[in-house]
Amino acid sequence: MMLGGRQLKGFCTTHFFERVGDEIKAPDKIVVKFPNMRAHPDYLEIVKVVMGVRELFYGTDIDGSLARFLVCDLDKGCVVSDYTEGLSLTEIMRGHDMRNREVCEIVDFCKDLVVSALWVVTEMNSKGVVHRDFKPDNLVCKNLLGDLVLIDLDFMALSHSKRSWNCDGTPKYQSLDVIDGQNFSAGRDMYALAITGLDMLESFFDVELLPQTVGETFLADELADMNMTKFLSRINSIIQPKAGDYWPQIAGLMSWCVEVISVDGGKPFVGNLENNIKIIDWMPNLTQV
Ligand SMILES: Nc1ncnc2c1ncn2[C@@H]1O[C@H](COP(=O)(O)OP(=O)(O)O)[C@@H](O)[C@H]1O
Ligand SMILES: [Mg+2]
Repeated sequence: MMLGGRQLKGFCTTHFFERVGDEIKAPDKIVVKFPNMRAHPDYLEIVKVVMGVRELFYGTDIDGSLARFLVCDLDKGCVVSDYTEGLSLTEIMRGHDMRNREVCEIVDFCKDLVVSALWVVTEMNSKGVVHRDFKPDNLVCKNLLGDLVLIDLDFMALSHSKRSWNCDGTPKYQSLDVIDGQNFSAGRDMYALAITGLDMLESFFDVELLPQTVGETFLADELADMNMTKFLSRINSIIQPKAGDYWPQIAGLMSWCVEVISVDGGKPFVGNLENNIKIIDWMPNLTQV
């Protein structure tokens, strides 16, 4: 009935299955995640809490932008969810397809993706929900038009209830307040999205924008020690020649990323969706650059 599919590594093992018969009512493809129960003995209990949080979004506008959990099977020790056709942002960043495209297409893709993800994050955060492991790996792009699905919801939690483990997520995408123990900080997803935005520019324009962290150093710690105005003008000067005529179109996105990762009392910048989009859409007068 089911065929074993791709297997990917993480702290869980993820398998993809394809339906070959039609005797059951099920999606054509599903994802089955087997957590490493030795490392996380209470994983499935936590996922049950996450399924409850996930229910908050059923029937809402962003329902389709969040991976859907179908089953959490405590006996078999696995979690089953819908498969989303597409590529993870990490796969897109590693591939050559985007890099070989026209600059205007790269610029459009980066902006559309950040704005779509920003909308998902803002909607989640407005209900007090934090994803807590936002990063390119956990974004599946359905196409190159910014249609995306946020996956790997295992750490997702209600910021006020704190009923989830105190997992730290992925160091590069952790904001300073998270490093300081504010695990449920509402700004952490937005911070991780801003780093993701810079990741995309680095990869598609083949440049280095962010400091390369070594060993135990956290990126947020390094960024906190930097002068952000200087940082912005440095990264602007790297991207501007690469973006050529399309520089004004991407300038707002760069400013937004830097604004979000700038530390304000230890917290990343969080604004409402409209104001965030205004910054992203800002276009400098070329003579100002
Ligand atoms: N619902 C899904 N649809 C499509 N791909 C998925 C889905 N869930 C997981 N994947 C793929 O499997 C990888 C690992 O799954 P993920 O849930 O992120 O596990 P981990 O906890 O190991 O990071 C993802 O980066 C993505 O490429
Ligand atoms: Mg993942």
